[in-house]
Amino acid sequence: MRSMSDRLSDSLKKKISERLTFYDDVGIRLFYTSRSFYSIRSSVPPEELSFSASITSAAADSSPSRESNLSISALPQPNSLEDSSLPKPSRTSAAPPIKPTSAATTRPPLHAPQKPPSASSATAAKSLALPTPSGPSLFEAVNKIEGDTLLKIRGDLGECKRCKLHKTRNTIVFADGNPKAELVFVGEGPGHDEDVQGLPFVGRAGKLLTQMIEAMGLQRQDVYICNVVKCRPPENRLPEKDEITECSPFLLRQLDTINPKVIVCLGACAAQTLLETNRGISQFRGQWLDFRGKKLMATYHPAYLLRNPSAKSEVWKDLQKVMAVLGLQPKKKSAEA
Ligand code: URA
Repeated sequence: MRSMSDRLSDSLKKKISERLTFYDDVGIRLFYTSRSFYSIRSSVPPEELSFSASITSAAADSSPSRESNLSISALPQPNSLEDSSLPKPSRTSAAPPIKPTSAATTRPPLHAPQKPPSASSATAAKSLALPTPSGPSLFEAVNKIEGDTLLKIRGDLGECKRCKLHKTRNTIVFADGNPKAELVFVGEGPGHDEDVQGLPFVGRAGKLLTQMIEAMGLQRQDVYICNVVKCRPPENRLPEKDEITECSPFLLRQLDTINPKVIVCLGACAAQTLLETNRGISQFRGQWLDFRGKKLMATYHPAYLLRNPSAKSEVWKDLQKVMAVLGLQPKKKSAEA
C-alpha cells in the first residue's frame, strides 16, 4: 500500500517543505507543532510516552540528522499538513519575536560566552555564539540580587496580577524540585494539569519529562523545573510578549539563585526568551550556549516529542551532552524494559 507521503504530489511536498522552513525561520515551527499536540492529546497512544524506548535507537543511530532535514515521510501526519487549519505564514503574530527592551543598558550581549570552558576540562563542551540581536540584552543588564532566595522570589511574585494571565489561571505554578540543583529545566508555561495541581510538568508532557530525567540517572527531585510564565495561558496558547516581559524577571531570579551548572530549555519559548532571539530552535538546538555564565542547552519540548516520537533520539543526544558535563551515567535498563 502506498504511504500518504507517496500519494502527495511533488508540488504539495514542496509547499509543505517551504512552509516548514518558513516556520523555522520565524521560530514558530515547534510552537505550531506542539500547539497542535494539545488538540490531539487523547489520540496519542500511551506507549509513545516511553522515553527509554528511544534510547537504544539513539545510541545505535549516531548520524547527525537535523530536524530541518527531515524527509516528507518523517514530517507530521500528512492529514494535518493538508488540513486547512494549517496556519498561513501571515499568522506569525502567534509567536511574537522576543526583542530586547529599551530599558536595558548597553552591556555585552549574553550570547557571547563569558567564561569559555577550559580545554582540559572533561566538561569542555564547545559553546556556540548565536548571532546577536541588535540592541542591548535585557537579561545581561540585570544584576544578580545579593542574598536573593527562592522564598523571597515567591514572596515578591505574590498573588501576581501583573499580566492578564491572572484572570484565567487557577494556580500560580512557581517551580518544583531541588533548590540546589545542578540542572534546571525551563519550560514554556503551565498547562491544564499544572494549573490544577500548582506544579510544573505533571501532565502528559510532564510524565515524559520525568522519564527523560530518570533516563539520565536522576530523579525529578534532583533537578529544578520551572517555566517562562507562571500562569497558564488560556487554551494552552503561547505566552504573549507582554506576559513574558512581566514574568521573566522572576525566572531570571530563580536561575540566578539556584545557579545551576546547566540550564536545559525545553522548546522554543524558553530558549528564545533566555537567549533573546527569534531564531528557530532547530538552528541552535543541541549546542552549548551561554546564559549569564551558565551552560545552556536548548532541546525539543516533551509535548513536541509526544507528537513526534522520532525526535526523541535527537533529544536523547542533547541530554547525553548534558550528562557528560554533569558526570552522569544513564539509568541501567531493567530486564523487561
Ligand atoms: N508545558 C510546559 O512548558 N510547562 C509545564 O509546566 C507543562 C507543560
